[in-house]
Amino acid sequence: MRIVSVVGTRPQLIKAAALQPALRARHDEVFVDTGQHYDEAMAGAFFAELGLARPDYSLGVGGGSHAEQLAAMLTRLEPILAVERPDAVLVYGDTNSTLAGALTAAKLGIPVAHVEAGLRSFDRRMPEEINRVVADHLSRWLFAPTPTALANLAREGIRAGVTLVGDLMLDLAARVAADVRDPAVLAGVGRALGFDLRPGGYCFATIHRAENREPAALRAWPALLDAVASPVRPVILALHPGTRAALEREGVSVGPAVRVVEPLGYRSSLALQLHAAAVLTDSGGVQREAAWLGTPCLVLRPTTEWLEAVASSGGRMVVVGLDRERAVAELGRLAPLKRAPDDARRRAAGLVLEPAGAAEAIAAALERDGPAGEAAEGPAGEAAEGLGETVDPGAVER
Ligand code: UD1
Ligand code: UDP
Repeated sequence: MRIVSVVGTRPQLIKAAALQPALRARHDEVFVDTGQHYDEAMAGAFFAELGLARPDYSLGVGGGSHAEQLAAMLTRLEPILAVERPDAVLVYGDTNSTLAGALTAAKLGIPVAHVEAGLRSFDRRMPEEINRVVADHLSRWLFAPTPTALANLAREGIRAGVTLVGDLMLDLAARVAADVRDPAVLAGVGRALGFDLRPGGYCFATIHRAENREPAALRAWPALLDAVASPVRPVILALHPGTRAALEREGVSVGPAVRVVEPLGYRSSLALQLHAAAVLTDSGGVQREAAWLGTPCLVLRPTTEWLEAVASSGGRMVVVGLDRERAVAELGRLAPLKRAPDDARRRAAGLVLEPAGAAEAIAAALERDGPAGEAAEGPAGEAAEGLGETVDPGAVER
């Protein structure tokens, strides 16, 4: 198949790096980067680090209001799709770039493939919830990462074209896990950042959700990080540039035990998560990675879409919102100062990550159900067992 894939943000570059080898083994890919993220540390650096192909088209959209971003993406994407005339447009996740790719394709009558379909927070105040609901309802292929995502789609009446493929980000994490296991890697990342980092001797944090850039939240989460950070166990906060700008706008700063650093490369992010006493984050990607790595994780949001990650964490992942007392208490339970270094060493030494097989399942499903495949009239809706099979999501229990 001839597939235009559309990316634009950091997590989409990371997901594309997970899928691209399998996709290109079976299909012709035209790679489009909207440029929604544009700083070297948020976008450019991932091409070299993860071996991503250079984009065939870079739209250079950048920041702005959602309407500005979307308008620029739609108008720049349309002529490209008109010229390329792909068999499918593939989009990832739930960002404005996802919505733009899905909407432009659907308006031109080009089938849409959605990776990470079916996630729901059931909170329409989140920009991501709007983007993912629309993308799902426009898609012909819906690649669900979890059984919960399948069930969500079924509740909205979406049954045809749904495939449970597992989590693409696990494929990439499994590919590079061996690169970050050695505590010497942590020490190297620490040296580059100017810190003496030891296993279990720090917490790692990221924060960027729109809700956490609201004025009240911009006071609550810095206070929460200050409460868990101490000179003996600092918090390393890899700060998204949008959050940094919001803090500056609001005149808020964090205390000295919260060490603010620029956004990191992918391996550095994984290394800091793996060897941390705990991870504190509102990121969808980081919370799953922490779960796979086995690191205690406090989710700094009121809810999570990743119920399976919480369920499989054995109590190590807790959704605490911005409740400072709860965060301090959970951290005391999950990563007490004395025990955390041993826990971190044991965790890294025993790390084995099995890939999800999502990349291969997605590439194969597109081939099977594509224009040349048997199900050219639309993917089969019959229930089928196992990863990578097209399933009837109504048959999946929540
Ligand atoms: C976007 C996604 C979010 C995803 C996140 C991943 C939407 C609506 N949100 O949020 O779902 O989890 O990416 O990180 O699509 N900025 C820079 N440099 C950059 C990128 C952003 O300075 O390279 C600043 C700009 O001021 C920009 C702001 O961050 O206006 C917000 O960026 P934007 O892409 O609109 O949304 P994110 O918060 O990054
Ligand atoms: N990440 C990174 N550097 C950082 C912070 C995160 O490489 O400084 C990686 C992280 O390991 C994960 C992905 O970015 O793979 C998650 O992206 P992000 O948090 O921006 O978005 P979300 O997953 O919330 O949509």
